[in-house]
Amino acid sequence: MRADFMKTAAVQDLLDRAAGTGRDGGDGRLKAITRDLIEAVTTTIVKQDINESEFWQGVHFLQQGAGEFGLLVAGLGLEHFLDLYMDAKDAEAGLGGGTPRTIEGPLYVEGAPLVEGDVNLSDDPDDADTLYMTGTVTGPGGEPVRNAILHVWHANSKGWYSHFDPTGEQTPFNNRRRIRLGDDGRYSFHSKMPSGYSVPPGGATDRLMKALGRHGSRPAHVHFFVEAPGYRTLTTQINFGDDPFAADDFAFGTREGLLPLPDRQGDCAHIAFDFRLQHARLPNDETLSARARTSA
Ligand code: BEZ
Ligand code: FE
Repeated sequence: MRADFMKTAAVQDLLDRAAGTGRDGGDGRLKAITRDLIEAVTTTIVKQDINESEFWQGVHFLQQGAGEFGLLVAGLGLEHFLDLYMDAKDAEAGLGGGTPRTIEGPLYVEGAPLVEGDVNLSDDPDDADTLYMTGTVTGPGGEPVRNAILHVWHANSKGWYSHFDPTGEQTPFNNRRRIRLGDDGRYSFHSKMPSGYSVPPGGATDRLMKALGRHGSRPAHVHFFVEAPGYRTLTTQINFGDDPFAADDFAFGTREGLLPLPDRQGDCAHIAFDFRLQHARLPNDETLSARARTSA
């Protein structure tokens, strides 16, 4: 599987898109070198069978010398590559199915308020429409998952995340909650509509993207971890299917099945989205990867 995996259309396409190959603009030589570098790194991931936790340990180390490293690994497609690799290993082990995983990104914060019921995520005023999301968390057979915790986080209408907002205007856990679900596996929350994220203008990631003839923007999206006893923890997100960047996410986090169209009515929008988890098979399946995360 290993040598063949690097040759798959999904991987080769990711390497091309990440390096800006075939796009107008940017520096042709830099694109060629970047493509070879990404290919070398991803080949090493496969050759050494590097797991998620090992990968993030390495990124954490390098980030101590380069503050935007977490953005660069996403923009260069390495974070999405890990998802493709884990998907391929699941398929080989006969473990496909369920809601697709996709990238976590670097903007999760540990310790968000743990709440129950029909929840409001937004503490701060924001001149934006209201997003309503509802749905269920079920297991592989469609059975409601009991005692799940849904971690939700998203940006505000300016595309800034609390804790990482350079304007300093957001209260600490604005648009971040952990929602404890009941026996029926149903969830329901509302919040101020997020806008898409863009990398800091003039920063290292922005400059590299421009030099590759690319951009550093993501469509509007909502992140989730879904954890429950007996089930594999899912890292995923929904991206708004009607966002101009829905088909051109700089971080490659948009995936088939994760692009719902918000039902927009006046100043409200509704998204119905159901999560389907897989059973845990290994002890680590129920926990998050050992990625270093910000804690408040
Ligand atoms: C995000 O999900 O917001 C994100 C992902 C990768 C890099 C930067 C931001
Ligand atoms: Fe995000």
